[in-house]
Amino acid sequence: CHTNFSVPLVGAIDQGTSSTRFLVFNAQTSEVVCQYQVEIRQSFPKEGWVEEDPQEILQSVCECVEKVCEMLTHMNISTDLIKAIGVTNQRETTLVWDKETGLPLYNAIVWMDLRTQSTVDRLISKTPGGNKNHLKTGLPISTYFSAVKLRWLMDHIEEVAHAVDTHTAMFGTVDSWLVWCLTGGVDGGIHCTDVSNASRTLLFNINTLQWDLELCSFFEIPVEILPEVKSSSEIYGYLASGSLTGTPISGCLGDQSAALVGQMCLKDGQAKNTYGTGCFLLRNTGTKPVMSDHGLLTTVAYKLGPDRPACYALEGSVAIAGAVVRWLKDNMGIIQSSAEIEKLAASVGTSYGCYFVPAFSGLYAPYWEPNARGIICGLTQFTTRNHLAFAALEAVCFQTKEILDAMNQDSGVPLTQLQVDGGMTCNQLLMQLQADILCIPVVKPTMSETTALGAAMAAGSADGVSVWNINTEHSVTTERYQPQINPNETEFRYARWKKAVQKAMNWET
Ligand code: G3P
Repeated sequence: CHTNFSVPLVGAIDQGTSSTRFLVFNAQTSEVVCQYQVEIRQSFPKEGWVEEDPQEILQSVCECVEKVCEMLTHMNISTDLIKAIGVTNQRETTLVWDKETGLPLYNAIVWMDLRTQSTVDRLISKTPGGNKNHLKTGLPISTYFSAVKLRWLMDHIEEVAHAVDTHTAMFGTVDSWLVWCLTGGVDGGIHCTDVSNASRTLLFNINTLQWDLELCSFFEIPVEILPEVKSSSEIYGYLASGSLTGTPISGCLGDQSAALVGQMCLKDGQAKNTYGTGCFLLRNTGTKPVMSDHGLLTTVAYKLGPDRPACYALEGSVAIAGAVVRWLKDNMGIIQSSAEIEKLAASVGTSYGCYFVPAFSGLYAPYWEPNARGIICGLTQFTTRNHLAFAALEAVCFQTKEILDAMNQDSGVPLTQLQVDGGMTCNQLLMQLQADILCIPVVKPTMSETTALGAAMAAGSADGVSVWNINTEHSVTTERYQPQINPNETEFRYARWKKAVQKAMNWET
């Protein structure tokens, strides 16, 4: 019973690739008061295609918000205490809707979708010298980012092309879609995004922090369909319906940026790795964008208020992490629940020489090889599903090592420990394996909801809300995993993994 509960609360909508959640935080202690989660369906209409239903995404958000409000009421906590809401989201996933009907014109094309490979090839051939790296954006031209998905939609979906021609189309990443719908949709919804999400589109100049007209013309995308770019922490609008009607939405961050903020990596040199559907290592580089020589991305990390400076990050992106566990469950039926993988892998404690490169969406950092495909090698008659489970977990750790090595080379200052978060970090075997493979300690906050926390911090500290005081010295309780195995053994296994990666990249030859 919480009848005397009267501290300000802040809600966070966390719309990820695999699920949607709504969490409510105590703005004074950062503790989670209540939360609810709904899984999101993915469809794979063709090989390499990954789609989600924008209406289902929106419904899942409304369902989570309403369930949490019911739960709070049962706990005798007034929903009036929720002073603001932050949004954090899977990045790059691309939507187009009609501003007059409010209806999506196609499914959301998910960030890991590969259908745009020929669009990418054509676009790269249009650049001077066929150079795929666009320094203004910090990103390579790749299937990963929104502009190529939007170009594909305009080229292949008649409804989208028509709406663009008749000036009724609106483009957005998931944050824009949600904020527009939640603030009223056709009845005055706000069409906006924040700098962290904008910086994943290939249309955003990360130096000027504006849509870049030259890039819009290169991709032949009219700037009028793009959302207005705002900071990550300000009041964008107010909820137009449901139990929290009138509550300001005042935080917006791509999920990896939100995790960086939630992990308090707010100083130059601080880094975190989030194990979600994919795996994303971000290192804060302060107020200057740093370009990578080793296959990493440069991205706007956050801008915590209209008058605050933008902070940047170097990012190592791995497309498939938690997704490999879901694949073992849904496609192979090797496990019944995601949590089961730990027991299976722990029962053998080795892959027995088996290596699994889950290059289902090509390989992202540091390779950026869209033609790579998944392989499992080193099989013998002795290999069981347990070894395969172990190899899948090891793959997540090896991929992290590859991006950590690239990051250390780029920055010249090796990380001495790795701060981690995300759903997979509940897996203790994975965490120990990660420490062993990196040969540095892995540090996990006991409060692992750092993505949602970052969005709540942005929302609660916004001007006009001001219920959250971001204290950069605030220390969090953590669990530590120390490396336990001989580094030579790791080196041997890592060298084998690298060979397997080469095979995944050249599997056709
Ligand atoms: O760039 C894609 C990323 O934002 C997706 O995150 O947590 O759904 O793996 P997640």
